[in-house]
Amino acid sequence: MDVETLRRSLAEAGQSHVLQFWDELSEAQRSHLLEELQDFSFQELNGFFHRAMAAFSVSSTQEKVDARMEAVPREVLGSVTRDQEQLTDWEAQGYTHIAYGKVAVLLLAGGQGTRLGVKYPKGMYDVGLPSRKSLFQIQAERILKLQKLAKEKHGKDCIIPWYIMTSGRTMESTREFFQKRRYFGLNEEDVVLFQQGMLPAMSFDGKILMEEKGKLSMAPDGNGGLYRALGAHGVLKDMEARGIEYIHVYCVDNILVKVADPVFIGFCVAKEADCGAKVVEKMNPTEPVGVVCRVDGVYQVVEYSEITLPTAQKRSADGRLMYNAGNIANHFFTRKFLQQVVDVHEPQLQHHVAVKKIPHVDTQGSLIHPDKPNGMKMEKFVFDIFQFAKKFVVFEVLREEEFSPLKNADSQNGKDNPTTARHALMSLHHCWVLNSGGHFVDENGTRIPAIPLMKEAGDLPIQCEISPLVSYAGEGLKSYVQNMEFHAPLTIDESGVQQLVRNGTCH
Ligand code: UTP
Repeated sequence: MDVETLRRSLAEAGQSHVLQFWDELSEAQRSHLLEELQDFSFQELNGFFHRAMAAFSVSSTQEKVDARMEAVPREVLGSVTRDQEQLTDWEAQGYTHIAYGKVAVLLLAGGQGTRLGVKYPKGMYDVGLPSRKSLFQIQAERILKLQKLAKEKHGKDCIIPWYIMTSGRTMESTREFFQKRRYFGLNEEDVVLFQQGMLPAMSFDGKILMEEKGKLSMAPDGNGGLYRALGAHGVLKDMEARGIEYIHVYCVDNILVKVADPVFIGFCVAKEADCGAKVVEKMNPTEPVGVVCRVDGVYQVVEYSEITLPTAQKRSADGRLMYNAGNIANHFFTRKFLQQVVDVHEPQLQHHVAVKKIPHVDTQGSLIHPDKPNGMKMEKFVFDIFQFAKKFVVFEVLREEEFSPLKNADSQNGKDNPTTARHALMSLHHCWVLNSGGHFVDENGTRIPAIPLMKEAGDLPIQCEISPLVSYAGEGLKSYVQNMEFHAPLTIDESGVQQLVRNGTCH
């Protein structure tokens, strides 16, 4: 597109200011800006803005949803604690689907990781485990191990393709990271990277905000940008060609994620669900977590801010919170359901408004760092499609076994940071050792009491890390640890039990 055509379409959309500084730009800046705006539909962008703002102003004035809300009924709920007798069966079914090549995993890794504050994609982050593995490596090794376990059970090789959604901000560095590390042992062709869309940040009156004189302030369009990206990049076609029927979707920042969890897959398929959400119990009424529930009979995630405190505090007869299905963005979808979403529903999904302080260049060309919110980003959410499911199910798992997200830097606050992620993983692995008959002893040889899960913020876990290549979920550890006593730190990997002793040597 030449600059005059661009000027016209910007003028028609009331966005002429985007080229306000054109005459001051270098050749390189001009061609970069032209390239960025090449495929842009400004009318479509204005449409997104108006719809998102209309929904936002309705929701800000609307009554809380309490009166229209219902908790997840027991018949669509599976639970690792309440349905123990069925877990083995669901797991076996899950392994069968994996062994027959019907299962893929899809990682949402297009976020900017603003709160963590690193310049590279969050999946590359090393939380400081003894192995120094990144989140990407931990997830890759879980896939490798699952493929191996499925082969052992069914006697056939199988592949779990890994689809990774990146964004303009994370694509190149993610690709390079995987290439340099040889895809952590996975086949390159089974790791499919694709890119989600980006949208400009907008002022409250619908004008595109500029990060620099020749650059728009762009951000990924939310993890629900997945559905448009699936269609745009032919991802579902690729899945179909590979014979994939079931897809596990998850977030990059959960260090405990059970990638392609056979129990969850088996449960969802056994219930003939097209859409499923894994949840953890919301413990505290004021915990700022969205809960899965029905509103006017339709499944959705209700944010804490959308209900009143008395409703958040309601308890069932068993003493648990009534609305306790805490959403952890960990989902099951059938490929057919996703295809229908892409073909039919995606265009109807509205963007949500995230009001932010957005640094921008003003009309005088000065860079402004606002001290109060001056604009918005527009995002879709991965759970926006629950409403379209014909059979929706919920699977409740234990937080200490499956959920510890990395959101913040250590310096920010004591929650969801590298330290809590590292501790959660080591604490879980300590449990696995105990469950397999191993023990830890202190420097006097006295057994350390078997209370691995930290109760207080200051408690430190025993340093214990088990490679996913050795155990996916605590299985297969007896031969390494049964009736044995260990000093921490203990690591178990493919070369066996590694135990560091005081002088720093291994034995
Ligand atoms: P968060 O909403 O926590 O965002 O993403 P984030 O980017 O990781 O961190 P902040 O908010 O900037 O600090 C939850 C999951 O959704 C993915 C993230 O990569 C993460 O796995 N995500 C988020 C996307 O894939 N695309 C997006 O546009 C936003």
